[in-house]
Amino acid sequence: MANSAVDNAIAFSRFAFIILGYIRGLIYGHIRYSVSEEMDIGAFIGNIAEDLRLNLPQLSDRKFRLNSDDGGRYMKVNLDNGILSVRERIDRELLCGQAAMCTIPFEIILENPLAVYRGEVEILDVNDNSPTFRDSPIALQMSEAITPGVHFPLESAEDPDIGLNTVAVYAISSNEYFSIKAQKTEYGVVNAELQLDKPLDREMQSAFQLVLTATDGGIPQKSGTAQILITVVDFNDNPPIFDHEIYKGNIREDAPQGTLVLTVKATDLDEGLNAELTYTFSKLASPTVLELFSLDPQLGEIRLEGELDYEEVNSYSLNVQAMDHGSPAIATRSTVLIKVTDVNDNPPEIKVTSVTSKIPENAPPGTLITLINVIDRDSGENGQFHCDIPKNIPFRLRNSSKNHFELITSKMLDREVVAEYKVPFLARDLGSPSLSANETIQVVISDVNDNAPRFGASSYNIYVMENNSPGSSIFAVTAKDRDMDQNSYVSYSFVENLIQNFPVSSYLSINSMNGTIYVLRSFDYEKLKNFQIRVQARDAGVPPLSSSATVNVIILDQNDNAPVIVSPSEQSGSSEEESVPQSAGQGYLVTKIIATDADSGQNARLSYHMVKATDPSLFKVGQNSGEIRTARNILASDATRQTLFILVKDNGQPSLSSTVAIHIAVLENITEKVTETGNVLRNSEHFTDLNLYLIIIFGCTSFLFLVIILLLIGIKCRQNTNISQDYISSSCCGGPNYSFNRRPEMDETLRYPGTGRMMRAPVAHHYSVCLSPESAKSDFLFLKPCSAPASQANC
Ligand SMILES: *[C@@H]1O[C@H](CO)[C@@H](O)[C@H](O)[C@H]1NC(C)=O
Ligand SMILES: *[C@@H]1O[C@H](CO)[C@@H](O)[C@H](O)[C@H]1NC(C)=O
Ligand SMILES: *[C@@H]1O[C@H](CO)[C@@H](O)[C@H](O)[C@H]1NC(C)=O
Repeated sequence: MANSAVDNAIAFSRFAFIILGYIRGLIYGHIRYSVSEEMDIGAFIGNIAEDLRLNLPQLSDRKFRLNSDDGGRYMKVNLDNGILSVRERIDRELLCGQAAMCTIPFEIILENPLAVYRGEVEILDVNDNSPTFRDSPIALQMSEAITPGVHFPLESAEDPDIGLNTVAVYAISSNEYFSIKAQKTEYGVVNAELQLDKPLDREMQSAFQLVLTATDGGIPQKSGTAQILITVVDFNDNPPIFDHEIYKGNIREDAPQGTLVLTVKATDLDEGLNAELTYTFSKLASPTVLELFSLDPQLGEIRLEGELDYEEVNSYSLNVQAMDHGSPAIATRSTVLIKVTDVNDNPPEIKVTSVTSKIPENAPPGTLITLINVIDRDSGENGQFHCDIPKNIPFRLRNSSKNHFELITSKMLDREVVAEYKVPFLARDLGSPSLSANETIQVVISDVNDNAPRFGASSYNIYVMENNSPGSSIFAVTAKDRDMDQNSYVSYSFVENLIQNFPVSSYLSINSMNGTIYVLRSFDYEKLKNFQIRVQARDAGVPPLSSSATVNVIILDQNDNAPVIVSPSEQSGSSEEESVPQSAGQGYLVTKIIATDADSGQNARLSYHMVKATDPSLFKVGQNSGEIRTARNILASDATRQTLFILVKDNGQPSLSSTVAIHIAVLENITEKVTETGNVLRNSEHFTDLNLYLIIIFGCTSFLFLVIILLLIGIKCRQNTNISQDYISSSCCGGPNYSFNRRPEMDETLRYPGTGRMMRAPVAHHYSVCLSPESAKSDFLFLKPCSAPASQANC
């Protein structure tokens, strides 16, 4: 059916062109035929004989020839009927391509006469070709950055047909982004262009697959399609985007090097290099921070590279940047906050500031000694701490603030007990495990003179043998002072005192440095048996402290006195005569020898022995009593004068003795009583020295008493009289005025009451205690008046 329709069309055209050709042939001497392409072989083109009005029989006679440009390929003439027909199928597109007019010129040549006719056969187009695309699919690359409206020329579809039969319309499969703009050129070619209607976004759609359809204008229409593959080329239009606006990380301050803190991550919607990211720290960060952390440029891992110290910096803020590799590159920033968490890595630090180098031992409780500053550079519990010192010391801590402590005394101190303290001060923080620090605080106690020197005993007994040699040391006292240095330097002295009216210093001296006591004189037990002095020890502190001890000097007796026979008194070795009645019987007490010994004890224990007698059998002497008694009755034959030699000896070692001769007269009529009276009288005549002294002392005392009474009366009577004298001269036994300690300025006028007469007091005499050369022998102290300086030299 289709073919018949085509044939009809061809027939119609042929007809039309024959008419036309005929007319033209007439006009131009030309014949022109037209025939559709693709006609079957033998298809009629034109009747040349008829059109050229040639006689059919003449054709062969006139050697009719068809000379066509195609070399007789497509057409042939039937010489029998002069019809030009298709010899071979004609493809117009092959023959003429896209030329708008496709003709095959030919010549008809006749001879006899020669006649040449020119003509041509126009090949008419038939829509026998569909539009075709040479390249399918058509690959296109478009940057996503191009703006809508831009045209992309497309390769036109090819349709060898011409005119209406060639490509007339392009269409594209429905889509949002692209449309086809077709334009017909002046040569009748339609050029198609792809127009972008809407911005592309690779990130939304990175590729399009479209179908381009080209349709010709023939009847029936023919069309061809091609695929358009559009790849959207990425444009670096997307910045990298971090997962978080702010990254927060924690890291312990003791984290080792290389510890991963956190990872930053950014994504870029672009692709390829545009999506390849490099992480860096912002250049604004300080160099120290840059050294402390590293950032892996590809992985975005932030790692610790240095050592952290919470106490120095407890948080870090970093700016990280992610930059893609597009061109131009786009960068994005994000902030990373890294918090350092505290680890108890700092022990408390103790700083001690001494207020005083030494604290006096009398410092009252509460005295400040040392300021202590404790710091723990950790925070929180790790930075809190407890401070402590031992309880058993006289110090305590006072906290003046959280970090400041004061070491103060809590009790009275005593250097003599503890002179120096080493106070361990311990500070321990509350972290876990807790760290501690300690410091030893040295507290030196300085001495205060709070201890008096102490003697080893409160009293000492010193035994000194009489007749000692003066100048020798007899004892040493020692007092210790528990203080130190000057406060402990002890010096010794005697507390002044009179011993038998003489100052102590005349008896003894003491080495003030070491307490050695020296005796200055030779003692006589018979005069001074003991005395007491007080020794004072005094330190060199300010003010000084002192204490004293009693020293009892006990003088020991020596047998240095021979017995002294008191009665019967002896004159030139023999006593006066005793008498005994002849009638006296055995045991009659003739006389009693009284002897004394100035020594004491055994040295004074006397015993009596008869060493020689006229008649040793007549008398005997009581060994202990000294009584001389008759040993038997006196006989008439006995001599009337008897002499006995009695030895009185003491019990000393060696013993001393005296001898007395006793003369006894044997009387015939004498009474006992007379004898006794005589004895008594005789006894009273022989005063001992002791008795003499006693009498003198008694006399002096009485005289003094009298004078005092007189003076008192005088003062009372003369109250108005200004008597400035506080010293009254006294005379003893009419001798010169003896006075000790009398000062020269006391040499003043005395006004005796009642007399109204001024009396000049005698010039004072100075008496010194002198040891006479004989004293070594006699052991007596002699007082010598030293009234003149010259005589003083003798003393
Ligand atoms: C001292 O320490 C006590 C107990 O430890 C505390 O209560 C007081 O607040 C502290 N004082 C000062 C000034 O820090
Ligand atoms: C005090 O510190 C020393 C080292 O400085 C240490 O050996 C001692 O154990 C510490 N004492 C106390 C009680 O912590
Ligand atoms: C005391 O000092 C004197 C003089 O320096 C010395 O002779 C004596 O031996 C000392 N006595 C004592 C007990 O040291």
